[in-house]
Amino acid sequence: MPYWPGTFLGNLVQVTRPQPPGKFGEELPSISPTEILSREHAIMERLMIVLESGVASIVDGGDTDLLPVNHAAITIKEFGADHHMVDEEQFIFPKLREAGTMDRLVDTLEIQHDKGREIIGRIIDLTRSGHVDDPGRLNELAGHCMSFVIMYRPHAAWEETVVFPALYDIASENYIDNINLRMHDEERSLMSDPGLRKLMDNLRKIERAAGTADLGSFTPR
Ligand SMILES: [Fe+2]
Ligand SMILES: [Fe+2]
Repeated sequence: MPYWPGTFLGNLVQVTRPQPPGKFGEELPSISPTEILSREHAIMERLMIVLESGVASIVDGGDTDLLPVNHAAITIKEFGADHHMVDEEQFIFPKLREAGTMDRLVDTLEIQHDKGREIIGRIIDLTRSGHVDDPGRLNELAGHCMSFVIMYRPHAAWEETVVFPALYDIASENYIDNINLRMHDEERSLMSDPGLRKLMDNLRKIERAAGTADLGSFTPR
């Protein structure tokens, strides 16, 4: 409910009462499907930072605990490959194909989804025990982690700046509303409270173990 705090510079100013805390994940009905996908990209980005940090430890040498990399890769598989990419494949790419104006780009995005699934599967296999002693396998692991990051970072950036905006040019309002409803239903268990809180708690645990939990640590000295 709005309230009237009085006058400001001679005008009556209407101020909306601030929302109480605890609304995280409950805003889903009012956000668009592409906003949901973009937030998922940001979660994937944080998981990729964990992969990069694993590579940095491997390059530094010594006995690297690879469990954070394993847990990040499993989350990328379950959340990124089996959920986020599937939504794009079901709801976004077919619409772009219908329009026929971005076939090459969609081909590339689909190839990258497949490649991403393959690479993540290999990272999970290699890090299952939490330790890799063989230098050849460590090298292979570092290569897979960096291949994934090097591919997926621009992949997500192109989707956010080219593909998602194009959807609004191509698709009818009705189609957007429809996928909005379908995605919200599907997301309810995963991306709304308490699903999102659980996912974020899990992410923070992985980050703490990987040493990437402190945002300030990324500021140059
Ligand atoms: Fe994608
Ligand atoms: Fe994506």
